Amino acid sequence: MSEFRVRPISSLNTSFAVPGDKSMSHRAAMIAGLADGVSEIRNFLPSEDCLNTLAAMQACGVEVEVLEEMPGFGPVTMRIHGRNMQLGTPSAPIDCGNSGTGMRLLAGLLAGQNFTCELFGDESLSGRPMGRIIDPLASMGAEIEALGAKPGCAPLRIHGKKLNPVRYELPVASAQVKSAVILAGMFCDGVTTAVQPADTRDHTERMLGSFGVKVTRDGQAISIEGGQVPLARDFRVPGDISSAAFWVVAAAAIPGSRLVITNVGLNPTRTAVLDVVERMGAKITRTLHSADDGEPIGDIEICGAELTGTELYKDEIPNLIDEIPVIAVAAALAKGKTIIRNAKELRVKETDRISTVVANLRAMGGVIEEFEDGMEIEGGHPLHAASVESHGDHRIAMAFAIAGLFATGETIVGNTACVNTSYPGFSRQLEAAISGSVIPADYALEVIPVAPL
Ligand code: S3P
Repeated sequence: MSEFRVRPISSLNTSFAVPGDKSMSHRAAMIAGLADGVSEIRNFLPSEDCLNTLAAMQACGVEVEVLEEMPGFGPVTMRIHGRNMQLGTPSAPIDCGNSGTGMRLLAGLLAGQNFTCELFGDESLSGRPMGRIIDPLASMGAEIEALGAKPGCAPLRIHGKKLNPVRYELPVASAQVKSAVILAGMFCDGVTTAVQPADTRDHTERMLGSFGVKVTRDGQAISIEGGQVPLARDFRVPGDISSAAFWVVAAAAIPGSRLVITNVGLNPTRTAVLDVVERMGAKITRTLHSADDGEPIGDIEICGAELTGTELYKDEIPNLIDEIPVIAVAAALAKGKTIIRNAKELRVKETDRISTVVANLRAMGGVIEEFEDGMEIEGGHPLHAASVESHGDHRIAMAFAIAGLFATGETIVGNTACVNTSYPGFSRQLEAAISGSVIPADYALEVIPVAPL
């Protein structure tokens, strides 16, 4: 089984890019697949999660022409031939792998088709709650059976049928649930509205907008009129800020470091991690290049400092939910206390990320108290090497690789193949950081010389 062996580093002065955004890559495959015409998608994330979604669309008859690949991983540039909202019946159950986003958004999109199909996933995904999308979709008239061993869990058998528009109040702040409702709403006659309890990432709304589908927002109510067909267009996926976050923390916690991450997505519903790391004392400069495709994209420069603890605000939690494992690592390296509450959602991610973070940080000498909805970290206790487990969770594997860069001795992170679900190329960048060699500027690891800063 693969593992990371990580040794401490003393500086990080370089510039590189991270792979395409996972959330946007899922949506690009789906929306371009529904569109009228041919879309060219660039910088698609060739991670297992997104490749499963792409394969799901192909299984529903969407033709994909691959133009460029990341060697060893998969397509990065491709032409997607949209099916003008009429998907074809898949001939076999669809494998969503490890991806909650893939399964939940596909369920929304498939509930209004005129065929029956099945979605299944790996062990982790088969234990995650699907009632949160079955309930709203059922209120629209969808018929979805949860066939899993655990109640309300995958596999899902979806009997597609004509849906009715609804106004649905989300009980949890979840972009996946909101998106499932909006995507299903595309197949209804009339206006479907999803009301979120707090801001969540808005990539579905933005991407539909850039494909010419009108989505309106009134406070926290997001509405879509059914019957609109996305118009094919070219779309470049920005770098994933959730992947950049690992390196943001690494650079932020080394006083004197200066790291530039180029062409990363700066959508305000995703950048709270930068606000938190700034509050902890690092200097971060954001340089916006464009928002041509409806998503702001730019460079971030991180200058490291002695970090101090902070408190995460309730409203920030949905915005940085995926970054909490690595923020917890930053907190362990900072002076003083960091308080993370209102984050119970962490317990239903790829692993229970409250317990996996707490166990791993403690194993490395961190001082941390666990709550049902979060944790309190008393920073400043030196970290030491340990053997820690990812439990098959990509963000846990990468967060503890970053912790290892600050621990005395050699940290071993076990079961790391899972990083390919979101960050192909991470291990190569990590090895380069540890050995002090140049991290290739392009995440695709083509030989592009990096100009030293
Ligand atoms: C995602 C939304 C978030 C996030 C996940 C990706 C998305 O989940 O944790 O990694 O692409 O919509 P929730 O919407 O369930 O909070």
